[in-house]
Amino acid sequence: MTWNRKHLLDIQSLSADEIVTVLDTARAFKAVGERAIKKVPALRGKTVVNLFIEPSTRTRISFELAAQRLTADVINFTAEASSLKKGETLKDTARNLEALNADIIIIRHSATGAPHFLSRFLAASVINAGDGAHEHPTQALLDTFTIREKKGTIAGLKVTILGDILYSRVARSNIWALSKLGAKVTLCGPSTLVPRAFEQIGCRVTHDVNEAIADADIINLLRIQHERQRKTMFPSIGEYTGLFGLNKPRLAQTKPDVLIMHPGPINRGVEIDSDVADGGRSVILEQVTNGLAVRMAVLFLVNGGKGPQEIGA
Ligand code: CP
Repeated sequence: MTWNRKHLLDIQSLSADEIVTVLDTARAFKAVGERAIKKVPALRGKTVVNLFIEPSTRTRISFELAAQRLTADVINFTAEASSLKKGETLKDTARNLEALNADIIIIRHSATGAPHFLSRFLAASVINAGDGAHEHPTQALLDTFTIREKKGTIAGLKVTILGDILYSRVARSNIWALSKLGAKVTLCGPSTLVPRAFEQIGCRVTHDVNEAIADADIINLLRIQHERQRKTMFPSIGEYTGLFGLNKPRLAQTKPDVLIMHPGPINRGVEIDSDVADGGRSVILEQVTNGLAVRMAVLFLVNGGKGPQEIGA
């Protein structure tokens, strides 16, 4: 399978083969990153813009470093210091960036569909770095990469996603990626944040945390997305932690080789205790490391790369 897309807008529209192409390309770039000289000229002469209209630590820095490793010129757009504050529209902002010869625009926005909107009129490639509660494709790709690296495969694994599913773009992208690659996905959390409607896209839904984690190969924890919730979805943070937080006693009830994942930022003492976040089963920081190779792969592919066969790793 070779890649043939100009944009990366979501996981839902990707085939399993396309996902595997990204993962294999990322594996080749990870090998490049282990060499003494970590830079390759794949994007020499290209301009990459990080258009982040919502806060980010991991995704923005990871894309910046990925573009630098590919020898691109990188512009970091800061919404707070931009003319968006003077009433300029997103469309005009993006058109102005393109007028400055941007080849790839990476966008994070609170509005669902913002990357798809840009892709309809820009000649540049568009990468979705998180749009509202819709999708966060590169997070799902780096999560899937990490699982495959640790477990050898995705097919047949039992993956529990625990937390605020309703407002989570990470959950949606992970559900699509994992399901397409043959994993069995269980969703767990308060009934207000984990509606039964997710069963219609093939997930198992439970509101019993003990049942959700008992036979899981992977537990992916999500923080409560307070910034997206329009009303109170559960009585208190303390009650949420008591019912759904992953702590040492709960971890003791899981499989001995379970992987604990979290996209970050983590809220210690809420959805995850420090003992678990910093413990031997946690791969949270490895996810961050793998994000660099995955984002190098995505930049390379949307720029016309076809697959891992083109990287001399
Ligand atoms: N996982 C993730 O998207 O983190 P940031 O918000 O820091 O980019």
